[in-house]
Amino acid sequence: MKILAIETSCDETAIALVEVKNEGKKAKFKILGNEVSSQIDIHKEYGGVFPALAKREHLKNLPLVFSKVLKKAKIQEKNLNKEFTAITVTTGPGLEPALWTGIVFAKELSIKYNIPIVPVNHMEGHIFSIFPKKGKTFTVDLNKNIFPMLSLLVSGGHTELILIKDWMKYKKIGQTRDDAAGEAFDKVARMLELPYPGGPEISRLADQARKLRITNYELLIKLPRPMIYSKDYDFSFSGLKTAVLYLIRDLKEKNPNILEDIEVKQKIAKEFENAVVETLVHKTIKAIKQYKIKTLVVGGGVSANTYLQEQTQKEIKNIWKSDFLTFKDLKSYFPSRALTGDNALMIAIAGYFQYKNKKYPKRLSFIKAKGNLSL
Ligand code: KG4
Ligand code: ZN
Repeated sequence: MKILAIETSCDETAIALVEVKNEGKKAKFKILGNEVSSQIDIHKEYGGVFPALAKREHLKNLPLVFSKVLKKAKIQEKNLNKEFTAITVTTGPGLEPALWTGIVFAKELSIKYNIPIVPVNHMEGHIFSIFPKKGKTFTVDLNKNIFPMLSLLVSGGHTELILIKDWMKYKKIGQTRDDAAGEAFDKVARMLELPYPGGPEISRLADQARKLRITNYELLIKLPRPMIYSKDYDFSFSGLKTAVLYLIRDLKEKNPNILEDIEVKQKIAKEFENAVVETLVHKTIKAIKQYKIKTLVVGGGVSANTYLQEQTQKEIKNIWKSDFLTFKDLKSYFPSRALTGDNALMIAIAGYFQYKNKKYPKRLSFIKAKGNLSL
């Protein structure tokens, strides 16, 4: 079967076309087309995503991205009803005005070509984003020996730990009580006078700082690791962000031009990234141990963070060292770089499983944008 997937939950207009074949317990995917049009340059001016502007851009971009993806896949629009079995579309969580543009676009195609719509949870998409590797084909093995699975979802809007005991069965065991990790990266970047999105900028400076010698100066730059030792699996990044604000304010009192010193920015970036990554990794490892996890899946924009990837791998090796027998099957997966951010390919995969499980409304009027949709 062929699937058309649409994603417009934030600032990327994305459409993908995939073909899926079932062979026993394996679902074999072939990517026919996968396009993402980013609005980052437009939102940069505002230092974050501006919902009304995102909506306007999605409306403009959707038909363009659609024609491009059809052309690349060598599929004619008039043949959609003959070739495609389902349209999968992100219905939440995300910015509602942005979500609606994708949903309305999907509904128009659904009516015109008589193809059912399968609503998809954006976060579920991020979980499935680990499957495609390099190349045009990939396989999702439906055998159950990968469970229990744990997913750390870290993006601009979410920071969650999800326990997955079986396909499509999710239990949220922890989440941020205030800001999301990506949001904290973006806000701290702004304080450091770095452009949006802040994650890659902070990460670049932090990497540079790790190569610098340690100076006395660095002793002044210490930030908290909020909730790291709390008994639950929750996170909090708002206090950390405020700590950076006060730190910069205090440094500026001594020297108003302090942020012109690139070394200062690098060292703040490093300490901030350390604080976020240590907290994320600590709780993830704690959950792996408690629930005897076999598969860790990290997804969402922040999963692109190299330091998070390195520290996760390092701690997993430590688990193996301390209790190899229990954790010999433990594996961890991050998406390929191109799929860490928002894309429609992940919506196609998650949508395929929803379709297989018959989890979609028969009436189009039931398909609505849900900004706060939860897993
Ligand atoms: O998943 P995503 O593309 O959009 C949402 O659904 O929110 O995530 C975007 C977030 C932004 O906050 C961005 O700063 C962050 O992911 N991000 C990073 C990195 N690359 C993107 N954060 C830390 N390190 C990175 N390398
Ligand atoms: Zn996302």
